Order: sequence, then structure tokens, then C-alpha cells
Amino acid sequence: MVGGVYSVIIVGLTGLVLGLIFNHFLPLLLKLGVAPKGTFGWPLLGETLSFLKPHSSNSLGSFLQDHCSRYGKVFKSHLFFSPTIVSCDQELNYFILQNEDKLFQCSYPKPVQGVLGGSSMLVVVGDTHRRLRNLALSLVSTTKSNPNYLNDIERTITRTLDSWQDNQQIIFCEEARKFAFHVIVKQVLGLTPDDPQTAKILEDFLTFMKGLISIPLYIPGTAYARAVKARTRIASTVKTIVDERIGNGELSNKKGDFLEILLSANTLSDNEKRSFVLDSLLGGYETTSLLMAMAVQFLGQSSAAMAQLKTEHENIRRDKGEGEYLNWEDYKKMEFTQNVINEALRCGNVVKFVHRKAIKDVRFKEYSIPSGWKVLPVFSAVHLDPSLHGNALQFHPWRWEGFQTHSQTSKKFTPFGGGPRFCPGSELAKVEIAFFLHHLVLRYRWRPEGVDQAMAYPYVEFQRGLPLRLYKIS
Ligand code: HEM
Repeated sequence: MVGGVYSVIIVGLTGLVLGLIFNHFLPLLLKLGVAPKGTFGWPLLGETLSFLKPHSSNSLGSFLQDHCSRYGKVFKSHLFFSPTIVSCDQELNYFILQNEDKLFQCSYPKPVQGVLGGSSMLVVVGDTHRRLRNLALSLVSTTKSNPNYLNDIERTITRTLDSWQDNQQIIFCEEARKFAFHVIVKQVLGLTPDDPQTAKILEDFLTFMKGLISIPLYIPGTAYARAVKARTRIASTVKTIVDERIGNGELSNKKGDFLEILLSANTLSDNEKRSFVLDSLLGGYETTSLLMAMAVQFLGQSSAAMAQLKTEHENIRRDKGEGEYLNWEDYKKMEFTQNVINEALRCGNVVKFVHRKAIKDVRFKEYSIPSGWKVLPVFSAVHLDPSLHGNALQFHPWRWEGFQTHSQTSKKFTPFGGGPRFCPGSELAKVEIAFFLHHLVLRYRWRPEGVDQAMAYPYVEFQRGLPLRLYKIS
């Protein structure tokens, strides 16, 4: 009797084990068998901590260096609590970006979603993403054709540089952040730097940013919890501004600006509209100010690039009347400036990688990527790959001579991502930086105060905020 029970149990267990092997482990093993080489590291955390180990943003970092030399440019790992394929290969990165929503999908970690909100463009996928993106593209083209847009940027530049008149030393990152914020807040919400709401939103934004990059613990008092609250405050300030506009009847005056188009878009819910404003503010200032800081630092280390840049802007200024504003024609003449910006993007790697997941089993060349796995295309690895960019670690703006700066299809240069999620603000960021450099090189010379280094945490930040000593050009 007892023996019979044991046999039943044994047969049952054998069935269970075989069932598990055939239904669960075997498919997984088959998938793993052809997945790229690599290791999963520790249980749960995997290799996340080594992957996130800070390193200078113009280098690969020890994790990628070590793994690429051991396993090749595409390898498997376990990151952010998920089995992951890391790609440092330009072809695979391009394939991933181009196949958004077909084979792969944008997939940022839950804590990032918690701070950005469920309607953020970086979080939504499929039709919702397409709807928001179409609006983003039409807003960018409206902004570009608004004659006040470029003049507003220049006025903000002049105001910033004037405020340095009596300073010999500045913390450049702080200045750049304020400047880029004032530009985007004017563009999106029509606020000037003197509006009390501007300072309030900026303060909340700085709290918001700290939370975005903090340990995601929703415990009162933590940076993360403060960020979630700051986001709610920003959303409510934005709501007040919008309500004031509607209350003042300004919408019927047809200003044709960013906010008017946004408010009249009947394809979006109120929540999506507020989230959209937040995305634009967030996307529009942190990355742009960081890139400005990188360009300024790299230029400080290359006297030849600095001299050529200055000559370009002196020539442009010579053709203009006293105090005359720059226009799109002038921007097109800033060819060397474009090279400097591209090279700062390549060497500085403002965005090191993006988050995706495979939504189907994918086969690409010899690599197999199982459905559900995280996929990280690492842009910095391609930008610093010596087989694609000669003397890759050197800041050399001349390498971009003849490069189609407006091309979105370069596989070896993807600072703004690619495919259906290509950054809609790329041109706005570049014109803003080009105009800033125009006035900066004509009015000031600068030298770094001590050593500072942009570090990838992996979000990029200058450790000391890039202190600069300024010299006025008489
Ligand atoms: C140096 C400046 C900038 C850099 C390096 C940059 C980089 C990027 C990258 C790499 C992506 C793709 C993210 C992904 O595929 O997951 C992206 C998306 C985005 N960027 Fe930018 N960006 C910059 C400036 C801006 C500006 C000025 C704006 C707004 C005015 C902006 C708004 C956005 C938005 C809304 C998205 C989401 C697009 C989508 O998911 O379809 N960015 N950006």
C-alpha cells in the first residue's frame, strides 16, 4: 500500500520533472544555446552593479571593455532584473532601432516610469506613442517656422552672457542648465525668465531630475519620493498656466504657438497634454545643457578648433548689422560649428544607451534574441569604436567635414537614437547650441579651473559642474 503510494508519487514527480524540462527549461535552454555568449552573474541583480559602475563618458568603461573583449560586441547578461542582450554592434543597434514596435519595443525600467508618469512619450508604445509623436513633430515644425523662436533664443543668450560681466569664474553646468531651461520654458509655455512661475518650475525640475536618477524607493523624504511629488507640482503649475490661458481667452487669438496647438489637439486627453509638456521640458533642457558643457570643455582643450570656430563666427558677424539677429541662413553657414557639435556628441555620449525589449524571438545574423529579454543598444560603444572612427578617443571636429549633418540614417553615429523614436528635438538643440557658441566665442575666452570630468553614471554629469575662468574679449 505504502509502496504503491510511493510509486504514484515517483511517477507523478517524474512526470512533473519531465514536464518542466520539456515545457520550460528545454525551450529556454534552446534559446540560451544560440543566444550570444556572456554570463548572468549574481542571482537577481545579475551584473547590474558592474554595468552601472561610473566611468568617464568619453570611454567605454571597464564593464563593456572587459565583456566585449571576452565575448564580442554582442553578449548576454542579466541587468535591471532581466536577462539582457547588450549590443555594441552598429548593425544590430540600427536593426533594433528600425524595428521598433515590430520586433522590439521601448521599455524603460519601472522606477523611471514611476517618475515620468504613465503617459510620458518615453514610456508609451504602439498607437499611443504614434499619436503623441505626430504631435511632437508638428510642434517642432511650428516652432521652427515661428520667426520669434530664434530671436527668443538669442535674447536668452545675451541675457546669460551679460550676467557674467562681473564674474571671473562660473560653474558652467549651472549656467547652461538655467539657459537651456529658460529657452524651453519660453518655447513651450511662453514664460520669460522673470515670470515667478519660471523659477518655481525650475526648482521643481531640479528635484525631479535628482529623483529620476536616484534609488527608486518610495519612502517619504527620499530623492525618489520628492521627485514624484515635484512632478505632481509641475503638472499642477502647468495646469494653472493652461487654465489662465483659456480664462484670458488667449486661445481664440490664434497665437499659433506650441501651447495653442497642444491645447487644441483633440486626439489627446488632458493628462496626456500635461505629460507632453513635461516631456518637452525634460527632453529640452538637461541633454542640451550637458552637450553645451561638453562642447565648451572639448574646445578648451583644442586651440586649433577654438581658433577655427572663432573665425567662422567673426565672418558671420561681419556680414550682419550691429545687434542684428541671427537667422536660419546664418545657421546654415555654421558648418564648422556643426562639426564641433557632432564631435562633442560623439566623444561626450550624452545618452549612452537606450532601453528596449524583444517582443518576438529575433534572429539577427548569428545572434538569437529570445522574446521578453531586455535589449540595450549601446551608442557610446559604437561612437568610440576605433574601427569606425579613426583615433576614436581624440576630439577631432574635422572628421565630420562633408558629413550630411541632417542625415538620420548613419549607423555609426546615433546620438539622437534612430527609427520611429528618433529624437524630435535634435535640430532645436543644435541650433540653440550653435547660436550660444556664436556669442560665447565672440565675447569670452575661457579656461577650466582645475580638472573636471564628465562621468557616465550612466546618466552623464560633470563631477564639479565644470568651473571655468572667463576672460572678456574687448
Ligand atoms: C543634445 C540634446 C539631445 C539629445 C542628445 C537627445 C537624445 C535623445 C535620444 C537618444 C532619444 C531616443 C530615446 C529612445 O530611443 O528611447 C530622444 C528622444 C526624445 N527626445 Fe531628445 N535629445 C536631445 C534634445 C532634445 C530636445 C531639445 C527635446 C525637446 C524639445 C527632446 C525631446 C525628446 C523626446 C520628446 C523624445 C522621445 C521621442 C519618442 O519616444 O518618440 N530632446 N532624445
